[in-house]
Amino acid sequence: MTTHSNATYRFQNTVVAITGAAAGIGRTTAEHFARAGASVALLDRSPAVLEVASALGPAHQGWTVDVSDADAVGRIANEVIARFGRVDVLVNNAGIGPLAPAEGFPLATWDKTIAVNLTGPFLVARAFAPGMLARKQGRIVNLASQAAVIGIEGHLAYCASKAGVIGLTNCMALEWGPRGVTVNAISPTVVETELGLSGWAGEKGERARATIPTRRFARPDEIAAAILYLASGEAAMVNGANLLVDGGYTIT
Ligand SMILES: NC(=O)c1ccc[n+]([C@@H]2O[C@H](COP(=O)([O-])OP(=O)(O)OC[C@H]3O[C@@H](n4cnc5c(N)ncnc54)[C@H](O)[C@@H]3O)[C@@H](O)[C@H]2O)c1
Repeated sequence: MTTHSNATYRFQNTVVAITGAAAGIGRTTAEHFARAGASVALLDRSPAVLEVASALGPAHQGWTVDVSDADAVGRIANEVIARFGRVDVLVNNAGIGPLAPAEGFPLATWDKTIAVNLTGPFLVARAFAPGMLARKQGRIVNLASQAAVIGIEGHLAYCASKAGVIGLTNCMALEWGPRGVTVNAISPTVVETELGLSGWAGEKGERARATIPTRRFARPDEIAAAILYLASGEAAMVNGANLLVDGGYTIT
């Protein structure tokens, strides 16, 4: 089947904020939105985000911020709005996935995972949603994971945090859908990024691929395409969904 590289969606006059935009899915998504005409605010804890943003061009800007730091998120959100005037689309993408056996799972690792993966999307949505609600128009896309709906060995805190992202998505969709803001989640299988491949290298990865009905991991551009769809006008009736982009893994 022919694929169309972003031919369908146009995002002129659209401001998109993406967390975790220095690498992986977030960076690829920023590139896709920029190509589709959006102005992109790239947020990441890594200072590399500044270079990634400037490589995209002068219509875009990067900010260094830890999404789990409430004060910093509020401050940076104000700077983003001062620069671009508003945010139309928020992609809550920043995430971490430290692994450990369930028994004796370190509390500090648990706390950090919940802070970044679950509290982070709450804080960033809380910062940008009021403007969207005031304009009665907006899109929020939260990166969950197949780990939100199944158990995966070693992923105790990650699974719990991503299941939480689905809960957060449901409540925001319920409260904000009537006011013009749709909120959806995307749940990929393993994606070929630093995060994905760090947990699924070598033989472990080969075994995992063999259990996915499509027999491979996802590429970052396939997740970006799903994000652009949910952010588009065509997806106006999709609200509170959890779009699995998992090659069918969770039906097995
Ligand atoms: N790669 C996968 O296999 C996979 C599968 C399902 C879901 N996801 C989810 O997709 C999202 C992106 O994953 P990825 O594979 O691109 O990861 P990645 O590690 O390649 O990139 C994540 C980015 O987030 C940034 N980040 C991490 N913690 C942050 C924080 N506290 N504040 C701001 N930025 C922070 C990192 O600096 C990095 O640039 C994550 O939410 C992840 O859980 C990934």
